[in-house]
Amino acid sequence: MKTTNKIIILDFGSQYTQLIARRIRDLEVYCEVWPYNTALEKIKTTPMKGIILSGGPASVYAEDAFLIDKQLFELKVPVLGICYGMQLISHLHEGTVQRATKQEFGFSELIIDNQEDLFANIPVKSQVWMSHADHIEGMPTNFIQIAHSENSISAIKHSEKKIYGLQFHPEVTHTLIGQQLLSNFVFNICGCQPKWKITEFISAATTEIKNKVGTDNVVLALSGGVDSSVCAVLLHKAIGKQLTCIFVDTGLLRQNSGWNDLQKFQEKFKLNIIKINAQERFLTALKGFTNPEEKRKIIGNLFIEIFNEEAIKIQNVKWLGQGTIYPDVIESVSVKGPSATIKSHHNVGGLPKDLPFQLIEPLRELFKDEVRRTGEALGIDSKFVYKHPFPGPGLAVRIIGEITAEKVALLQAADQIFIDELYRANLYDQVAQAFVVLLPVQSVGVMGDVRTYGYTAVVRSVDTTDFMTANWSWLPFELLEKVSARIVSEVNGINRITYDITSKPPGTIEWE
Ligand code: XMP
Repeated sequence: MKTTNKIIILDFGSQYTQLIARRIRDLEVYCEVWPYNTALEKIKTTPMKGIILSGGPASVYAEDAFLIDKQLFELKVPVLGICYGMQLISHLHEGTVQRATKQEFGFSELIIDNQEDLFANIPVKSQVWMSHADHIEGMPTNFIQIAHSENSISAIKHSEKKIYGLQFHPEVTHTLIGQQLLSNFVFNICGCQPKWKITEFISAATTEIKNKVGTDNVVLALSGGVDSSVCAVLLHKAIGKQLTCIFVDTGLLRQNSGWNDLQKFQEKFKLNIIKINAQERFLTALKGFTNPEEKRKIIGNLFIEIFNEEAIKIQNVKWLGQGTIYPDVIESVSVKGPSATIKSHHNVGGLPKDLPFQLIEPLRELFKDEVRRTGEALGIDSKFVYKHPFPGPGLAVRIIGEITAEKVALLQAADQIFIDELYRANLYDQVAQAFVVLLPVQSVGVMGDVRTYGYTAVVRSVDTTDFMTANWSWLPFELLEKVSARIVSEVNGINRITYDITSKPPGTIEWE
């Protein structure tokens, strides 16, 4: 986004990099994540108020360490290095960084030596979150220590320039003083203003869309998920009838999602939606396939084929609207950089770049929570906007083994019961993602006086903010009992329920 009031975060591959950006956005300051090896020239010529160097898994003294040009510190822009970022600052200023004999992972007590600027309004002692194997052994030239823990130098500051380093992670919520500290950096040291507001984003985005699109038509693949729906409503606000949405019903969506929700949209926002009933085509294409990656590929390719068939029928389409959001952008720009190995999800419903349209992605600067707030501000129902994420391949990755119409119906019914009960217990919004998985395992049961032989369903619920790590939810036994009893008695064909108590890692959230 074109604003001088922004912070740039250089990414050295930490799992927490996106979290830093979200914390800064929470302060209503716009920020972007760039790969650590972004050309110095680009950094020099981009108006900004401050730079943050993220953490990272490497060691600054390793042969293939991720280094930066030392000129970065001469730009007269304040710099804050976090963990690896601090070690890098130190390394580039003749400090000594070594493997620590006492490595710190988890909580540590921080003792502040200098309660000024970065540590203004922060108590002398507080709890912080550390995660480091290396530490500063010898202080860098012209730096002073401004905080320590029992085992390490925890914060440093240049004696003249606005360059700071932190050994701990202010961005994680375990660091109780974290937000105050980031606020001190962003407002007091960098001089940013809290100007990043959703309402302003909407009005700027609307103008930009109008200017870009002119009188052309735009086509958009509407999945029924939050991102594509918010994108559609935003585009519609800007260009109205010039937008046509295509909803491909794969038959692999949840019972009460997809078309039900989109019909409400159509009524409320007067969206122009074309619905394609493709359940049969998907089931036929998937017949006989059990391998998860093959299933994903089949669904992805067929989706593109069907979307294309419809899109080319619409006149004067020059643009393809997409609900790409900022984490997707960061992941794709990081491919050449260090975060590459963290995650590679084939986003089914994602369309190839070689379609004969130009891309328009009005949400590409927003994090998920900002997309949700944008949706609410546009008048989309909160229940819809705050729904759990749903994978692109849909129930196909929640039916283990071969997919049949019968299994889809069983899973939809069981899943709906679990979700209903979560809402009823006021727990839906407390957990991050909840669903049912259908196993290709049949077992013996007894109902009344009758022997049954039915499928096994797995109830899964996880707590997470970033979906990269997750804990299984400690749902009340009473709820699990009710869900189990209801599924077995109401869904004819499922006679056994298990609850998945695997965290990620070592498990994944989905079963496939
Ligand atoms: P895992 O199973 O990798 O899931 O722990 C993490 C998050 O990603 C979602 N997920 C997908 N989303 N296409 C998607 O659009 C996929 O193929 C896919 N696989 C997993 C999953 O639901 C969870 O939110």
